[in-house]
Amino acid sequence: MKRNADPATTRRRLEVVAGSSVPGRISPPAHRRAGVDRETFLSIMASFPSGVAIVTTRDSEGKPRGLTSSAICSVSAQPPLVLVCVDLTSRTLPALRHAEGFVVNFIRAGRSEVCDVFASKAEDKFAQVVWSETESGLPFLPDDALAWAECTTVQEIEAGDHMIFLGRVERGEVANPGVLPIVYYRRAWGVPAAPEARERKQAAGS
Ligand SMILES: Cc1cc2nc3c(=O)[nH]c(=O)nc-3n(C[C@H](O)[C@H](O)[C@H](O)COP(=O)(O)O)c2cc1C
Repeated sequence: MKRNADPATTRRRLEVVAGSSVPGRISPPAHRRAGVDRETFLSIMASFPSGVAIVTTRDSEGKPRGLTSSAICSVSAQPPLVLVCVDLTSRTLPALRHAEGFVVNFIRAGRSEVCDVFASKAEDKFAQVVWSETESGLPFLPDDALAWAECTTVQEIEAGDHMIFLGRVERGEVANPGVLPIVYYRRAWGVPAAPEARERKQAAGS
C-alpha cells in the first residue's frame, strides 16, 4: 500500500537537511556550515586513539601508491564493507579513483617508520618497504600488516575536504595473529598493553 507523506513532516525534514527553519530563507546546507576551526577539530579528534592502516593501490601507470590512514571503519558484515576517508589533496587519491580498489593493511606495533614513510610525500614509498601483490595485482604489505583486506570500491562519497571510499572486502587474512597493532594517539605512536600484561594487572588488583 502506498503511503502519502504528511506535508508538514516532509517540510520539517527538508528544513533539517537545508539547515533553515525560516520559510523562504536560503542558508547553506547544515553540513557546509563552518563549525569549529580546523585546529580545534584536529585536537579534539587527536584525543580518540586509533589503529593505523596503510591503504595501498595502483595508479594508471601501474605504479604502487599508498598513504597512512586512521580514518577507516568497519561498516557492514553482510555484505562485508569498510570505509576509508582520503583527503582531497592526497596524491594517492587519483590512483584510488582509477583502480576502483585498494588494500587496507592494518599495521603492527613497532612499524612507525613505515607509517612515517606512507604519511610523507615521498615519490617512491614502496622502495623503502617489503611488498607483494594480491591475486588481482594490488600491492600490499605482508610483513608490516597484522591483517590485510583487499576491497573493490562500491561507492565514492565526497564529504567536506575528504572523499569516502566504501569498499567491499573481496579477500584478506590475519597474516600475523598474536601480534599487537600500532596505535596513534595525540599525534604520537604507541602500543596497546599486551593481553597478558592486562591480565597480570587485573590479577594484582590494579
Ligand atoms: C596516524 C596518521 C593517520 C592519517 N590518517 C589519514 C587519513 O585517514 N586520511 C588521509 O587522507 N590522510 C591521513 N593521514 C595523512 C596522510 O598519510 C598524509 O597526508 C600523506 O602524505 C598522504 O600521502 P599522499 O599524498 O602520497 O597520498 C594520516 C597521517 C597519520 C600520521
